[in-house]
Formats: sequence, structure tokens, C-alpha cells
Amino acid sequence: MSRYQLLTTATWLLLPAVLAVPTSRAQMACTAEANAPLVTPPPTLVVRDEDDEPTRVVARNVVGDYLNSVASEFGDKVSSYFFSGIPEWFQDLPTGDAVLDKLDITEDDLNAIPTSVLNLPSYANWTDEGWNLRVHGNVYKLPNVSQDKIDDLANIFLIDVDIEDLDENQQENARNLTKSIFVVQQGDLEVTMDFVSNVDVEPSSGGGTVNAQAGGDQTITLPYNTTDQGDFDVFVTLDNSTGPDGGYTTPGDETSSIQTLNVYAEGTNTGNATAYLVPPTGMTIISDIDDILRVTKIYQPDEGLLNSFARDFVPWMNMPDIYANWSASIDDFHFHYLTTTPEQATRTYMEFIYSTYPLGSFDTRPLNFSDVSATLSIRKFLLDKIFATFPQRQFILVADTTNSDVMKAYPQLAHDHPSQVQCIFLRNTSATDDSNYFPYDTSGFEGLDQDKYMFFTVPDDLTNLDIQGGKCWNESIAQNVTFGTQGLPFGLGSDDEDAAGMLEPPSVAGRIGVALLLAFLALAVL
Ligand SMILES: *[C@@H]1O[C@H](CO)[C@@H](O)[C@H](O)[C@H]1NC(C)=O
Ligand SMILES: *[C@@H]1O[C@H](CO)[C@@H](O)[C@H](O)[C@H]1NC(C)=O
Ligand SMILES: *[C@@H]1O[C@H](CO)[C@@H](O)[C@H](O)[C@H]1NC(C)=O
Ligand SMILES: *[C@@H]1O[C@H](CO)[C@@H](O)[C@H](O)[C@H]1NC(C)=O
Ligand SMILES: *[C@@H]1O[C@H](CO)[C@@H](O)[C@H](O)[C@H]1NC(C)=O
Ligand SMILES: *[C@@H]1O[C@H](CO)[C@@H](O)[C@H](O)[C@H]1NC(C)=O
Ligand SMILES: *[C@@H]1O[C@H](CO)[C@@H](O)[C@H](O)[C@H]1NC(C)=O
Ligand SMILES: *[C@@H]1O[C@H](CO)[C@@H](O)[C@H](O)[C@H]1NC(C)=O
Ligand SMILES: *[C@@H]1O[C@H](CO)[C@@H](O)[C@H](O)[C@H]1NC(C)=O
Ligand SMILES: *[C@@H]1O[C@H](CO)[C@@H](O)[C@H](O)[C@H]1NC(C)=O
Ligand SMILES: *[C@@H]1O[C@H](CO)[C@@H](O)[C@H](O)[C@H]1NC(C)=O
Repeated sequence: MSRYQLLTTATWLLLPAVLAVPTSRAQMACTAEANAPLVTPPPTLVVRDEDDEPTRVVARNVVGDYLNSVASEFGDKVSSYFFSGIPEWFQDLPTGDAVLDKLDITEDDLNAIPTSVLNLPSYANWTDEGWNLRVHGNVYKLPNVSQDKIDDLANIFLIDVDIEDLDENQQENARNLTKSIFVVQQGDLEVTMDFVSNVDVEPSSGGGTVNAQAGGDQTITLPYNTTDQGDFDVFVTLDNSTGPDGGYTTPGDETSSIQTLNVYAEGTNTGNATAYLVPPTGMTIISDIDDILRVTKIYQPDEGLLNSFARDFVPWMNMPDIYANWSASIDDFHFHYLTTTPEQATRTYMEFIYSTYPLGSFDTRPLNFSDVSATLSIRKFLLDKIFATFPQRQFILVADTTNSDVMKAYPQLAHDHPSQVQCIFLRNTSATDDSNYFPYDTSGFEGLDQDKYMFFTVPDDLTNLDIQGGKCWNESIAQNVTFGTQGLPFGLGSDDEDAAGMLEPPSVAGRIGVALLLAFLALAVL
């Protein structure tokens, strides 16, 4: 057990003690407090409503304090909002001058380096003017930095492990990702894209994807230069250009297939991506990646870090089979991967997705969404954008319970666009992983038809569903949705009587036991 695992376990065990100390008996708790350097009980534990009943708000405040204390045990690598499901290690990444400072390179060094472009696979909708394609990504330079320096920087991210201690493959992964974080973004640059209908689509590699019939070739300079942080994100209208054999892209109202075009950023061979021309009607799946398509364990910072920086990405159970089946069996299914991982880490995510799951368009967190509140709002921002782009398509939304932004945004979309949200599938992460301490809030699901959503445990729960028929709940999978905060220990946050009991004072024997436990744990940790 590492030191912080022990600390966490200790704090976890102490929870009932902290919760059980009633205000009116604060003085009696002094013995316990004196022996417990790890835990500071919150000053007020029981607030009563107008009927003099303890309210659940209290439980939440207590729990909030508790969670903060757990988070703080992870040290300065983790802050309290990590319980929102935002991987801490991808927060506050350096940009601009901060990168130059860390790398100790000059403008002159930089000028000698070629420009790279991250070009994200994108979607287009059909409009009166033709295909309207979103083009988004980032322009940057990848400085030539010595391995020693990269290793030092990688070690800033790794908790309790030195890059030297990783195996060779993991070292290479960690170096690659670290390099992609320490890039120098290029602002105020013009971006020009070449569109070419040369996609070699393999049968059933992604829904109803077909190659645009040797038409649609053209070159477009984006109407705006890159932002200060090197980002570009704009819709452009494609010309109905004719290919060599008289081929042209099929209008969106004459096909249900998804046509593909390749998009190449000029001046580099780093900015190649495929664009998906998606007809106005049909089905789109919007899928999160971490802890649903791959094993990340963002709720366990040491594991999450290794799974993101060092280890090869690993699919979560047999999710690839489920997606492959949906891709093959649901007509013209458009796959869109939406992760709030920051742009800098995108290449690793895309490589994994495209070698494991059906092809599709991609969204990640752009650089201007980097403070905490922006980080928590980016998912809704990107979801709203794709909903606005396809107002007649139906959406299948997939993620897991550890993202607080998902738990809000998905049911909200179902309330706001009832005819567009066909299914919401949420992996109940607590059900298969008891190392997950993240609580989740199911209140947004109140009032939604149960056939529209399912909290599931393993990928097999998703087999044999009639998604097109709108039957998204596998009735053999028990649903235990309280429309409140769930996933807390000891029944806190649930409506049942036992949970309320947790706020009652414990017996005298119980308090002595707690004091002993505290003393023991304090010794064990120190
Ligand atoms: C990077 O720098 C090293 C020396 O620091 C040099 O040997 C190598 O050629 C450089 N690579 C490139 C691509 O400039
Ligand atoms: C690291 O990056 C290099 C250059 O982009 C690539 O050739 C190599 O396959 C990557 N290694 C891993 C383990 O991803
Ligand atoms: C965009 O950047 C180019 C250089 O890449 C510059 O020549 C041009 O003036 C800029 N355009 C705008 C509108 O700022
Ligand atoms: C696109 O161009 C082809 C000829 O190349 C023409 O037949 C077709 O009607 C055009 N489509 C639209 C929507 O203008
Ligand atoms: C991008 O496409 C160009 C043109 O087809 C090709 O030469 C280049 O190797 C591609 N780059 C990558 C990284 O695949
Ligand atoms: C980030 O930039 C995009 C355009 O690229 C803009 O629409 C968005 O509002 C910006 N978001 C923030 C939080 O600044
Ligand atoms: C196409 O997408 C744009 C950008 O999201 C949106 O403003 C527009 O309304 C959409 N057009 C149609 C016909 O759906
Ligand atoms: C998730 O799984 C846990 C553990 O099995 C269970 O207690 C909880 O009720 C489940 N949540 C939902 C929403 O079904
Ligand atoms: C429901 O889940 C079970 C167990 O995971 C699975 O065997 C079954 O095929 C699923 N589908 C239906 C419609 O029952
Ligand atoms: C594959 O997906 C289709 C469509 O959702 C469904 O009808 C079928 O039962 C699925 N098969 C399995 C094995 O999940
Ligand atoms: C139902 O959810 C509550 C609150 O999360 C939990 O206490 C209880 O154990 C769950 N029951 C089952 C059968 O999972």
C-alpha cells in the first residue's frame, strides 16, 4: 500500500466517526479529535428543516467536506474538484510562454522548427448552401527537447513513480505524451485545408460510412486566423465540385449514408483527418471515452495517471464488440467521440479509438477552456454544438457515472430535446469498481421515461437492445435511481431510513471504539 492509499483508506474508515459527531455533543468528541490529526470534523453537522427533521443537504455538506479531505490526501497533484470527474493531471497544462520557460528555448530555436497541425476529424451538416463542414484543431510547434528534459517534465506528472522505473514501452508512452503537452501553440496564423475524396473506407469500419464519390475536392483557406492559443474552429461551406469521372458529393437530402472526405492541412503532413458528411436524419452516437471505452480509473489518481501517461490504452471489457455490433446493425450510424481530455492529448486518444472502435468524428477540450469552470462547461458547449448542427437526428448518449458534467448534461438534453435523445447509457462505475469514491447525482433523470435510459454494469447489459425502437432499458438490469446523490458510502444521500440513521449519535461504546480506531490509524500513518 502506498502512503496515500493508506491515508485514503484511513480517512474513508473515519467517515462514520466524522458524520456521527453531533453538534450538541461536540465537547464529547474532543477525546477523539485530540487523537485524530487527520480529520477535522465540520463545525455543524445537523441542520434541521422546518419539521425539525435532519435534511439531506447536511449530508451533502458533510460529504463535501469529507470528499475535500479525501482529495487533499492525494497531495498537491489533486484538488477538490477531481470528484467532478476531471482528470487532474490534464488540468492547468502549460501554454504559450509557460512552455518556453519550462523548455528553456529561444524564439530563434523555435523559428527553425516546422509547424504542425492537429486536425480533428469532423462532421458536416447539409444546408441550403450545400455541405457545411466544421474544421477544428490547433497549430503548434513541437520543440526539439532533450530526453533528460522530457523525463524531468514527465516526472512532474507522475505520482510516486519515476519515469526511470517504468518499462521501456511505458517510458516511450510517457515521453510521447509529455512532448505533446509541451508544444508551442501558434497564434494568428492562416490555415488552409485541402479536401480530397480519397478515403479508403473499409466495409463496416464505421456505420454507413462511404467514400464521397470522387467529388468534393477543393482547397479552402479558413476565414479566421488561429486564436492566441493556436486553435481554429469554424464551419466552412463546401463547393459542389465535380471529380474526374463526373462524381460529386451526394446532397444530404438524397442519401442516408455518411460520406467521407480527407482533409489535409497545407504545409505539413501532421494535419491529416477524415471529415464525415452526415445527412440531416438518422442516428448519431455521442460517446465519452475515459472509463467507458477504455480503462482509465480517473477516480484513482495513481492508476489514472499511469493509465493515461504510461500504459498502453486498454479497452474497457468487451465494449469494442458492442460498438462493432451497433456499427454493423444500425443503419448509417454516425459515431462521434466527445471527450473533455484537453486537445494536447488528443492524438493518443484518436490512435486508440480508431484502432479499437468504429470510425467517427471527434471532439476534445480546446485550449481556451482550461480554467475549472470552463472545464466543467465544455461538455455541454460541445454537446449543444452538435445538437444545433443536427436538429433532426436522434442521439444515443454514452458515458459513465464518474463525470459530474455528464450526469447533468445528458438528462438535461433529454428534457430539452425529448424527440432527439433516443437513449442514454451510463456505466455505473461503482457497481464494478469499489475503488471508485465518486458520488454521482441522478436528480436530472427525474421525469424521464425509463425506456430512454439505463444505468448498466457490464457491456453485455447492452446486448440485444432495440435501440431504433426506443427500448434502451434492458429490463433484466435492475435500476436503482433515487433522483438524488448516489454512490456515497453508508447509504448517505439515499432516501431510506437507515441513511438518516447515520446522522444519529452513536452509542457510547461506539464512540470509544471510534476513538481507539482514530488513535490506531494516526499511529499507523505517522
Ligand atoms: C534535436 O537536438 C539534438 C541535440 O540536442 C540533435 O542531435 C538532433 O539532431 C535534433 N533533432 C532535430 C530533429 O532537430
Ligand atoms: C512515440 O512517438 C513516435 C513519434 O511520433 C512514434 O513513432 C512512436 O510510435 C510513439 N511511441 C508510442 C509507444 O506510442
Ligand atoms: C492571418 O495571418 C496571416 C499570416 O499567417 C497574415 O498575413 C494575415 O494578415 C492574418 N489575417 C488576419 C485577418 O489577421
Ligand atoms: C452538383 O453538381 C452536379 C454536376 O457535377 C449536379 O448534377 C448536381 O445537381 C449538383 N448538386 C447540387 C446540390 O447543386
Ligand atoms: C498525410 O497525408 C499525406 C498526403 O497523403 C501523406 O504524404 C502523409 O504521409 C500523411 N501523414 C501522416 C502522418 O499519415
Ligand atoms: C473558446 O473559443 C471558441 C471559438 O473557438 C468560442 O466559441 C468559445 O466561446 C471560447 N470559449 C471560452 C470559454 O473562451
Ligand atoms: C448546420 O449547422 C450549423 C452550425 O451548427 C447550424 O447553425 C445550422 O442551423 C445547421 N443547419 C441545418 C439546416 O441544420
Ligand atoms: C450502482 O451500483 C451500486 C453498487 O452495485 C448500487 O448501489 C447503485 O444503486 C447503482 N446505481 C444505480 C443508479 O443503479
Ligand atoms: C440484458 O442483459 C443480459 C445480461 O447482461 C443479457 O444477457 C441480455 O442479452 C440483455 N438484453 C436483453 C434484451 O435482455
Ligand atoms: C446488435 O445490435 C442490434 C441493433 O441494436 C441488436 O438488435 C442486436 O440484438 C445486437 N446484437 C447483440 C449480440 O448485441
Ligand atoms: C440503491 O441506491 C442506494 C443509494 O445509492 C443504496 O444505498 C442502495 O444500496 C442501492 N440498492 C441496491 C439494491 O443497489
